Amino acid sequence: MQHLISPSFLSADFTNLEREIMQMNKSEADWFHLDIMDGVFVPNITFGMPVIKQIKKHAQKPLDVHLMIVQPERYIEEFKNSGADILTVHYEACTHLHRTVQQIKSAGMKAGVSLNPHTPVHLLEDILNDVDMILLMSVNPGFGGQKFIKNTYKKINQLKILGEKNGADFLIEIDGGVDNSNAKKLIEAGADVLVAGSFVFGSENPLETVKSLKYLNF
Ligand code: DX5
Ligand code: ZN
Repeated sequence: MQHLISPSFLSADFTNLEREIMQMNKSEADWFHLDIMDGVFVPNITFGMPVIKQIKKHAQKPLDVHLMIVQPERYIEEFKNSGADILTVHYEACTHLHRTVQQIKSAGMKAGVSLNPHTPVHLLEDILNDVDMILLMSVNPGFGGQKFIKNTYKKINQLKILGEKNGADFLIEIDGGVDNSNAKKLIEAGADVLVAGSFVFGSENPLETVKSLKYLNF
């Protein structure tokens, strides 16, 4: 499978959001990655449903919504109604993860589970057959523009092995510090989806940057 690119709008220009969305509509991006932070699970606050609804009006690609909030089960329906297509919750934020994953799927969305850099992948063994995607954080969640954590390569390998052992079928998404120095290696290791925020929106030509991530021509 050709890998997917999901630019993170955390690094977009929010005063020109429509322009940023239109540009990404034209690009080789496959999804739009939206980072929702509550100031409790992570030490930062971003945006919520009203902004997602506005983005949905113009977006021509699926919304890949990454929840960095405590008790995300409180808002599953609301995120669905706001336009989320893929909803990812954190393992560390869910007491009843299995139930939450089922609720996301019953609401008609794809379900993702995310792991912080310090959380081992083997903890996901009993949920692997229920999820559509595992998001491995390659920085500590909360901010764009941080340095990629190299231990992520090992986690991708371990997750691939665990998936095969369990006959599970899910995408592996990598989020944090992705750029031209690690993208190729991440895909070779087995990543299916690359999130990139500052590397895309901080570049001179975001369209070209997305293309380079898609075709790995650096
Ligand atoms: C971080 C977010 C990321 C972030 C990535 O907590 O989950 O999606 O936007 O930004 P970069 O690509 O700049 O590391
Ligand atoms: Zn994210």
